[in-house]
Formats: sequence, structure tokens, C-alpha cells
Amino acid sequence: SIVVPSVQELAKEQLTVVPDQYVIQDQETVVLSSLQVPVLDLGKLLSEDLNLKGHELERLDYACKEWGFFQLVNHGISTSLVENMKRDTKALYELSKEEKKKLWQKEGEMEGFGQANVISKEQKLEWGDTFFLKTQPPHSRNPNKFNQMPQTFRENLEIFSAELEKLTIKIIELMANALAINPKEMTELFNIGTQFIRVNYYPPCPQPEKVVGIKSHSDACALTILLQISDIEGLQVLKDEQWIPVKPLPDAFIVNIGDMLEVITNGIYPSILHRATVNTEIERISLAAFHGPNTQAMLAPAPSLVTQERPAQFRKISVLDHFNGFFSQELHRKSYLNQMR
Ligand code: SIN
Ligand code: FE2
Repeated sequence: SIVVPSVQELAKEQLTVVPDQYVIQDQETVVLSSLQVPVLDLGKLLSEDLNLKGHELERLDYACKEWGFFQLVNHGISTSLVENMKRDTKALYELSKEEKKKLWQKEGEMEGFGQANVISKEQKLEWGDTFFLKTQPPHSRNPNKFNQMPQTFRENLEIFSAELEKLTIKIIELMANALAINPKEMTELFNIGTQFIRVNYYPPCPQPEKVVGIKSHSDACALTILLQISDIEGLQVLKDEQWIPVKPLPDAFIVNIGDMLEVITNGIYPSILHRATVNTEIERISLAAFHGPNTQAMLAPAPSLVTQERPAQFRKISVLDHFNGFFSQELHRKSYLNQMR
């Protein structure tokens, strides 16, 4: 990625007008709606009561087909770990300018503070700073970045990251149950899966309607688990051509389907466009964990989901090439996945 300046620092300058490079004109009008993304209960999904489980699996299947997004409650990750993670994530953005500089992306680097998918100096930028980091498998971590991170953030992240990895496998297994296929057709790909985290920091903006926190996009990975660090709305999901603001529930994770899961399910569970908006009043922080298959694996629809009536919708490509291809392009809706058809 190309090195970009800090929006957090820019926002401290008391601007009344945003610099041109942050003005993104192609935003659709927000169509607010009273709809909300479905809420699923992991306790029910894992229940021994087969009626309860079956009913919740049907709701999971519906959420994945119709929304590509849901909130997950009863997820089994302890409140204290989540609260520690929230506290340490906030603290990451309270580091001094100098401390943050040490963790800033270098030219061509993806990890650290900066913005993702910036491939030219002229490109429009988003109203937010991100902190991007490879977290799984552990041997793929960048020791330089890990050693420079605040110690408590690092320690909690290591635990949280491993917990989210396990949760991801459970969710993918449940999706295979909902699709009535052998779970191995999906879960085996995630044997030594990959995980990146991306912390998003959106400072207040004097002209929020002229910028975006994150442009409309689908995630490249298979499954994203998102933790809202601030209780503030900003994430919006496209559903039937309307932008639906997500109201984060306390103690829930927001889960969404990424492009790779759309490929694996042969298009049955599509990745969904979403974006983040910003406001004039207050900063907003979120932490996304992106889960993908093993980088050595080939990405292709699960064999049982390819039938005469539904031939394979995507080309075969390695997981590594898919990730590299995605990050070498500007974020633009589902344009990357559409090239794989
Ligand atoms: C995203 O990572 O796509 C946006 C997440 C958010 O800020 O809620
Ligand atoms: Fe996203």
C-alpha cells in the first residue's frame, strides 16, 4: 500500500472543509429503514435440543442467503476478554503521534497504521485510519510489528485472535449443516486458516456527507467477525438496494460473509456490500477479524454445491492469489469477486 497521512491528526486541525482527496461524490443517498440485520444465538445453534437447533439453523440459512450479515449473541467468548480488547484497542489510538509513527506502514507494506487498498497517489482516501495486522497462523506474524505494539494489546489480541479462529470454524461448520453438506467440504479448507485484523478509527468530520469511513465494498475473506468498540452507529449494509444502519447489540459480534465464502458456497451465500459512514460529533472505532482458508489451499466451490442445475459460478484460484489480487486493487464494490466469475 501507499503511505497515507493520519486522518486522526488531520481531524485535530479544526477544519471546516475537508481536503479534496477525501471528497467522495459517488455516494448513494442513504435510504434509512426500520429493518435490522438478523440476530442469531450460538447457544441455540449448538443446542442438543434438535428442534431448537433446527429452527435456529433455518434462521442462519435465511440470514446468510438474504442478508450476508447477522449479529451473533451467546457467542461464548468471555465478556472480560472482550472488554479488555475494547479498552486496549481504544488505547492504541491514544498512543502519541511518535509511537504511532513507529507502527505506521512503510511503502509497499500492508501491516501497521495506514489505509488498505491504496494503490495510487491520486486515489481518493477514506475518512479513517486503520491498523492492519496478520494474526493467524501464529508463525506468519510479523515480529517487528508485534514487538512494537503495546504489550497489553498484544497479549489480549493473541488470546482473542485464537478464540475468534475457533469461533469461525464453528460458524462455518454450522453453515455447512444449514446447507446440508458434509462439513468437511468447508472446514478442511480452514485447517491452519489465515486471520487478519483491521482496527478502524473514524474521527469526527466537519462534512460527513462528503466523505466515507470505508467505501462500499464486500470483504475479500471468507468470514468476518466484527467487534464494535464504540456504541455508535456507522456501519451500513446494503439490503434490497437500501442502506440499513446496523445497531450494534451489547455483547454481540457482527458476522458477515466474505467473497471467499461466496465462492465456496458456489454463490448460495453471497458476500454483501457494506460501508461505514462518519459523523460530526464523535470518533468511532471497530475491530474486524477477517478469516480465510489456508493460503496453500485452492479456492473453489464445495463439490456438493456444484450440480447440473447450478454449475460452478467461479474460476479456481489459489487462496494466496485471491488475497494478493484483492489488495492490489482499489476497493470498489464487488468488482474483485466479479472478475473471478
Ligand atoms: C468494515 O470493516 O467493513 C467496516 C466495519 C465498521 O467500521 O463497522
Ligand atoms: Fe468490510
